[in-house]
Amino acid sequence: MIEPSYRNLRHEQPGPGIHLLTLDRPRALNALDGTTLGELACAVRGLSGDAGARALLVTGGGTKAFVAGADISEMQSLSPEEARSFSAGAARLFLEIEALPMPVIALVNGYALGGGCELALACDWIIAADNAVFGQPEVNLGIPPGFGGTQRLPRRIAPGKALELLLTGRQVNADEAVAIGLANEKVAPDALLARGIEMAKLIASRGPYAVRLVKQAWQRGQSLDLAAACAIESDLFGLAFSSADQKEGMRAFIEKRPPVFCGR
Ligand code: COA
Repeated sequence: MIEPSYRNLRHEQPGPGIHLLTLDRPRALNALDGTTLGELACAVRGLSGDAGARALLVTGGGTKAFVAGADISEMQSLSPEEARSFSAGAARLFLEIEALPMPVIALVNGYALGGGCELALACDWIIAADNAVFGQPEVNLGIPPGFGGTQRLPRRIAPGKALELLLTGRQVNADEAVAIGLANEKVAPDALLARGIEMAKLIASRGPYAVRLVKQAWQRGQSLDLAAACAIESDLFGLAFSSADQKEGMRAFIEKRPPVFCGR
């Protein structure tokens, strides 16, 4: 269950099985403070056990920012031990987001800096509004990224380009984000949510069990050599043949009718 009364997070369901989480603290450009991270963690845990969830969209409240980073005013007086634990807690949360069984799409509307860029990177893919600005500006604050940026950025885009952005703190606009493969596409700001919902509905119309297996195969294979990763794919391919969705999908093809999937 997702808690309905968050302070800095909004949860909506714009369609059957489609969830939208809005980081909603626009006065601080949706910066991630402890409360916001806690609420996000609670929502993510709720969604991870929701068998009916088909896709998750994540975006920022207001018109200026997706998330402008971890909350600097909260961070500035942390001790080394507190900073380590702050980073480790967020790292666990972002791994949980990545491990959600349903596809997760970041809808980046404005600044996605520091922890905001790292949150977008923990999502399966990114749709950028024209006004999106991505970057890891932590080196300007005298710190390295702490929510996975040094690890996920070089895994998402070319490693040399990732290092350039991490070491310089240079920010990139939506066009460059698409050109370097950080964002999948860019759309007008007022079309962002509709595009996200359109993609979520497309995913939701596919075999839900198969969609989850694709995500699982992709994720589990990332850190393995090709042979071991293909062995995982074969295991999951076999598993699919124990599902009602496989029987329905193939029967529907033979009978020349649209499939009616049940997600099992
Ligand atoms: N943490 C805490 N507060 C933040 C924040 C952050 N990461 N980013 C923005 N804010 C706050 C500002 O302090 C300001 O609050 P105030 O109105 O009480 O002064 C408010 O959000 C609006 O930000 P402001 O800087 O006035 O907007 P801008 O349009 O001039 O600049 C940014 C926007 C994103 C370029 C600028 O806010 C910025 O550089 N933010 C920090 C980005 C960053 O370094 N992130 C990595 C953190 S590890």
